Amino acid sequence: MLEISELRKRFGGGPGASEGKVALDGISFAVRPGEMFGFVGANGAGKTTTMRIVMGVLQADSGSVSWEDRPLAYDDRRRFGYMPEERGLYQKMRVGEQIEYFGRLHGLGQQAAKKATDDLLERLGLTERRGDAVQTLSLGNQQRVQLAVALVHDPEVLVLDEPFSGLDPIAVDALATALQERCRSGVPVIFSSHQLELVERLCDSVGIVAAGRMVATGTVADLRAAESNTLRVVVRDPAPGWADGLPGAVTATDGKHVLLADGERDDQEILRRAMKAGHVEHFGVERPTLTEIFKEAVT
Ligand SMILES: Nc1ncnc2c1ncn2[C@@H]1O[C@H](COP(=O)(O)OP(=O)(O)OP(=O)(O)O)[C@@H](O)[C@H]1O
Ligand SMILES: [Mg+2]
Repeated sequence: MLEISELRKRFGGGPGASEGKVALDGISFAVRPGEMFGFVGANGAGKTTTMRIVMGVLQADSGSVSWEDRPLAYDDRRRFGYMPEERGLYQKMRVGEQIEYFGRLHGLGQQAAKKATDDLLERLGLTERRGDAVQTLSLGNQQRVQLAVALVHDPEVLVLDEPFSGLDPIAVDALATALQERCRSGVPVIFSSHQLELVERLCDSVGIVAAGRMVATGTVADLRAAESNTLRVVVRDPAPGWADGLPGAVTATDGKHVLLADGERDDQEILRRAMKAGHVEHFGVERPTLTEIFKEAVT
């Protein structure tokens, strides 16, 4: 398990000074093997800073990062796959050579690096571009190369800072599938994203960060359940006045009545009344989308 505990980080102000900018104010979360963790939050909330600390690019003022119950060490990080926010590719190097080179840097033998490169080029739709210099690729294709570089050594843990940004829908699906496969084989995956539908679709759990603090963590289902308590009932052609005395408000259009009820109520009684009144087309508690939960949490 990868455990991030009470990370604090202040920029500027010098040691011990009280001024400066607090970027992280006690960030904690854990990602288990085989779990896909979506890290979301507004611009400047602290996602990149957290990931940089996990990868050892930046030092925290306090707090810790542990992997398999030990403090994370340099050797562990070599077996991690990292896609930084600041993309770092050798612009003049050819696509295939670049991916192989990073594979070798991470300890793969020549044959293994070549094979892993071939696989990734194929998966990410870059086979045709293998011999082209990186600088001749479009933004999205450079992003694909960056992802291949993060994945080439079959990492034990994946830490990806906005891996989906700039990708077209085909590449999004290819990457999603590649990440799900790694995840299923027991790799913890953390990625940040502003594409909340994607996070909702892919992630087992989500952390919402606002101004350097975690304001919500849990499975998407738990977050949605915790936030929601509105019962929505749709009845076609009900007898008039069927909802008299029931909590909530009814709106009627084209013979369809929609009852929205919040707070204290007897759902079974409402269902009985609705069924007696007409044809019940829908009966259920409204679940907010991750986008709605996000907006509520960060404002
Ligand atoms: N090197 C730095 N020097 C000073 N302040 C910094 C530095 N790096 C980050 N910050 C500040 O720390 C805060 C968190 O930034 P961070 O990059 O972690 O946010 P983020 O959640 O990744 O945002 P985004 O969604 O825009 O990528 C911001 O207020 C940012 O201005
Ligand atoms: Mg960032």
